[in-house]
Amino acid sequence: MPKDMLLEIKDLEISLLVESHMVNIIDNVSFDLKFGEVIAIVGESGCGKTVTSQAIARLLPRELKILSGKILFYSKIDERVLDVCKLDPKGKTIHYIRGDQIGMIFQEPMSSFSPVYTIGNQICEVIRLHQKVSKKKARNISIELLDTVGIPNPVAAVDQYPHEFSGGMRQRAMIARAISCNPSLLIADEPTTALDVTIQAQILVLLQELQKEFGMAIIFITHDLGVVAQISHRVFIMYMGKIVEEGSVHDIFHNPKHPYTENLIHAIPKLGNLRERRRLVPIRGNVPSIFDELHGCAFHPRCKFFMPDKCDVHFPKCKHLTSNHSVWCYLYE
Ligand SMILES: Nc1ncnc2c1ncn2[C@@H]1O[C@H](COP(=O)(O)OP(=O)(O)O)[C@@H](O)[C@H]1O
Ligand SMILES: [Mg+2]
Repeated sequence: MPKDMLLEIKDLEISLLVESHMVNIIDNVSFDLKFGEVIAIVGESGCGKTVTSQAIARLLPRELKILSGKILFYSKIDERVLDVCKLDPKGKTIHYIRGDQIGMIFQEPMSSFSPVYTIGNQICEVIRLHQKVSKKKARNISIELLDTVGIPNPVAAVDQYPHEFSGGMRQRAMIARAISCNPSLLIADEPTTALDVTIQAQILVLLQELQKEFGMAIIFITHDLGVVAQISHRVFIMYMGKIVEEGSVHDIFHNPKHPYTENLIHAIPKLGNLRERRRLVPIRGNVPSIFDELHGCAFHPRCKFFMPDKCDVHFPKCKHLTSNHSVWCYLYE
């Protein structure tokens, strides 16, 4: 793995085990992430974004299996590159990596905090699991963290329960907990989806500021292409367990190649002048089920450029347009 890489995923395949047969969920996914880089993984619901991130932390539910591929991660404790796929999912190494080096935030903070302990207790618990500090010191660190993520009056907030926080404040508290051990990677899985637009914008700004301050890399997962321009350097468009286009934010927004990417762009709501406001174009059709046996490019039933006997036979090869802009589509073969 190159020296500046934190994470490199190579040909990852994940399947769902149903009654002795396998259904492919993640198919040949490869991407990488440099230290301090922010990437976005974008696709509609059901495309495999969460499963991919669960695999990185080896938090896959039991019925999902990593069939092949590599997830190479630079572990700062060992100062070497580990293949996360090869680690025992219940073992010490992944346990350390998860708490110390990979922080995670999710869509619904209510379900990730226990309702019966104070916010402070739940942040302290994580701190004390990975750092040898006294209870008092951990509490002080928690207060500092709550302050860092913009929670007003952190000295009082530390003793409050999750239900006493608003949705936006809970999301901030979850971010505080996720960064408490100064992780080299933060995985943010739809962190703003449950929030209204104003709070969503504030959380995005907060993530950006924290990224600058602490220098961690971020994998930002969202179904909403509209929020990624502000935060990420590179974008990976995912459809039905495969990456179909990757590029810089500029490539994806100004020179999108895959018909699916274009559809995602047209589905972004635009704020602003009423007269300039254009109609939102929903993407026709739905994401198919993993049980639909689709051959070729899985987007073909929804694609206006569908070429029979081509798109529905084999998945297209990767077309490199520039050094970091690639697309998987027969339109460019
Ligand atoms: N534990 C599971 N059991 C069965 N199917 C699952 C499980 N987790 C995810 N899936 C399926 O895998 C696909 C990808 O899911 P997911 O990664 O959650 O999508 P996304 O996060 O992009 O919305 C979906 O079709 C989903 O139904
Ligand atoms: Mg998801």
